Order: sequence, then structure tokens, then C-alpha cells
Amino acid sequence: MSNKAGFYVQHSDLVLSENIREDYKGKDWKEFVASFLSLGQLQPIVVKPNGDEKYEIVYGERRWRAIGEHYGLGVPIKDMPMGMVWAATRDNLPTHTRLLIQFGENQQRSDLTFLEKAKFIRKFHDLMIEEKGADAWNQELTAHVLNLSPASISHYLRVEEAAKSDVAVAKATTLDAAVKRMKTAEKLKVRHDAAKKDDNNAFERATSIIHHGDARDWISTIPDGSVDLVNFDPPWGNNVSYKAQENHEGFDDSDEYAGSLREFMLPQIFRVLRNDRFCVFWFRSWIEEQMAELATSCGFNLDFTRTACIWYKVDKVVDQNRNPEKSLVEAYEKFFLLRKGDPVFHERRANNVFAYDRVSLGSIIHPTEKPLALCSDIIRLCSVPGEMVLDPCAGSAAFLDAGLRISRKAKGCELAETYRERGVTRLAEYLKTFRDA
Ligand SMILES: C[S@@+](CC[C@H](N)C(=O)[O-])C[C@H]1O[C@@H](n2cnc3c(N)ncnc32)[C@H](O)[C@@H]1O
Repeated sequence: MSNKAGFYVQHSDLVLSENIREDYKGKDWKEFVASFLSLGQLQPIVVKPNGDEKYEIVYGERRWRAIGEHYGLGVPIKDMPMGMVWAATRDNLPTHTRLLIQFGENQQRSDLTFLEKAKFIRKFHDLMIEEKGADAWNQELTAHVLNLSPASISHYLRVEEAAKSDVAVAKATTLDAAVKRMKTAEKLKVRHDAAKKDDNNAFERATSIIHHGDARDWISTIPDGSVDLVNFDPPWGNNVSYKAQENHEGFDDSDEYAGSLREFMLPQIFRVLRNDRFCVFWFRSWIEEQMAELATSCGFNLDFTRTACIWYKVDKVVDQNRNPEKSLVEAYEKFFLLRKGDPVFHERRANNVFAYDRVSLGSIIHPTEKPLALCSDIIRLCSVPGEMVLDPCAGSAAFLDAGLRISRKAKGCELAETYRERGVTRLAEYLKTFRDA
């Protein structure tokens, strides 16, 4: 036992402690038992002398039982003398076993987050590689020791790494959500790199359309009366947008921030708009009156558009209703068509309800992304080809994308690097196909 802390002891000389009972027959029990034939016992069972020439198990019941199943059938386990188990007392525990005990104890905590667990697994895995060497240790062995499946070890290790640079992954509440976010980010990164490689001109043009930064600084660079239509879809406040979509990065959606952003931006938007033009202004429906007042105080009028328009999310039926007995699914968003001067519509439409499905979960790139068709519909109503549309809080860049597709000029700004990158990707992809065509 020279290279291992601890000692060999007869399997039958270990007894269960009254206090410690591991839930040993999990769903992968059979695989766990079988793995001792190929992997052997990789961690000592932690014991304390019970004063009766036997040892009480402090930690490692599941391993002791698994080994016992083989010995019961007269089958040896890998690299172990028949009938023996590797044991250690708390005084002579190897570092990795101490970690393992901590891990076991933490697993019992109901508030253990997936990220804490991931960090633990990372620490243990790296320690084992350091001790045994990269050739001798792998994820499968870590999975074996921690009683987890190799697939989940791989997920934990990957999200632990991704969480360091991706707040969306770090902010996820479950491992599944984190893995989903990580995969989405990986997919979008591949798209981004491909767009850049495929057509650098289109990529550069897309990059120049969406400014990365704070719209409050950016808008001061836009000349007075130079824009024909603005889409202003800022964070709504009260963390509504973030809560609505768990699978995405959050942005500052506090009431305070949303309020000050609106108050700063609306007069600026009024300034950059040409006369007789519209601004599409999205807001949380509870504060409709307040928003009408704010907009009029900035110089806009609502002479013919006092009733807010509605985007009716046709596909939104039952999802996200956590309290169906008391609340109904919220299936619409509201926006005002703010008027500077006396603009006219460029299309005839039946009413102020815009009915469109939401962007499908498979292709959504932003938590509050508007569908392209809805954006085109609004742009056609409020502007003509050749005109300039502006989106200061561009998000997924849906509005800019829609504008380009129907021959408008487009310019926007986005504060979050990730969304800006995704917006640039989608515009570059469109501009490339447009050039190819
Ligand atoms: C409601 S979302 C816009 C969604 C967008 N209309 C779409 O269809 O994807 C608001 C966006 O504003 C961005 N944002 C927040 N503060 C900003 C600021 N000061 N300047 C620019 N963008 C900002 C957020 O990162 C978020 O992406």
C-alpha cells in the first residue's frame, strides 16, 4: 500500500455506521457495480475504528456495497487482493478523498447550485489529473468515483469552463438550462465565424450597421432630422424581459434603469427624426398612461394613435403560465406609434392588432426578439423604400434586418456584446445572400 494513503482491510471487517446511510441503489447501480471489474477501487472508504477490531464506515457505503456484490459471488475486483477493500481513517486521508467527502456532504444540501457542483467536480477532476497524470486519469474515472454518469461529468466540466466567460451560462438555474445556453452560444459563435469568413465585405457592412455601445452616447452622433423611422424597444423595467426567458443572458431590466433610459432617449429620438415621421415605442402595458404622458412631454403627439397597437402572439397558448387558476397567459405586447408632426401611413391596414407567431425557440437569439414579419409590417406602414430606420436598442437586430430586406437603410446600437455579435451575424448572412442573388 506504499503509493496509497490508508490500508487494506477485510471487506467483512467494515460495518455500517448507524448515522450514515447513503442512498446507494440509484438508477445506474448495476453499471456502477460492474465498473469495479474494469476500474477497481479508486478511492479509499473512510472509516473509524469501532473499538471491536472492526471499522465503522464514515463515508463510502455505496462503494463498499458494490465491492461486496463481487466478493459475494467469489469475483475479484481489479488490482485488489481478494476479499479486501482499501480504507483510510480521517487522519490519513488523501486530499482527493477529503474533497470527495466534502462533495458527498454538499450533495445533501438542497441549495447546492449546479455551478457550485460543477466547480467541485472540476476541482476534483483536475486534482486527480495532477496526482495521477493526464494519461492515467479521465472523465470516466471521475464519473466512477463521484457516482455520476460520464455524460453528466462532461456537461458539468464544460459548463464550468463556459460560465467563466458567458454570463448567460453562469446565470442559468439548472444544469440543463446551462447546457442549452452553452450549446446555443457555441452554435451562434460558429455562425458568427462562418459569416465573417464567407463574405468579409458583408460582415464589415453588418458590423458598421450595428454600433456596439450605449445608445445614450451613440445617438448624440446622429444629426438632427436625419432619420425616417425609429424603433424604440428598450428594457421594460421590473425585470419582465429577463424573467420571461430563462434561457438567455439578462440585461439590466430594473425599473430605475429602464425609466432613466426612456427619459433620456425619447427627446433624442424626437430630435433625430425628420418632421412628419413615426417612432415605434414599446412599453410594458401596465404603464401605458405614463408612457403617453412622457412621449407627449418630449414633443410627440398621439393625435390619431392614442390607442396603443398590439402585437398579438398568436402561438402563445399555454406556455409559461405558472398559475393557471388565477392568471391568464399574456399573449400580447403593446406599442405606441408616436407621431412627430403629422405623418401619414403608407399602407392601408384593417386595425391596430398585429398578429404574428413569436420567433421559434430553435432560432431565437434574444429573449425579447420580435419576429421579422411583424417588423416588416410596421416598417411598410410607417416608411417608404430608401428611407432610414433606426433602432437604438437593437437586441437581435430584427428591425434592422427587416428594414434592409425591404429596401430601407438601417442603423442601430446595442449595448450587450453577445447580442450585438448575434445581430451582426444575422445581418451579414442576409447581406451575403443578397449579394449572391
Ligand atoms: C427589449 S430588448 C430589444 C429587443 C429587440 N427589439 C429585438 O427584436 O430583438 C432591449 C435591448 O436593449 C439593450 N440595451 C439596454 N440598454 C441599452 C443601452 N443603453 N444602449 C443600447 N442598448 C441597450 C439590451 O441589451 C437589449 O438587448
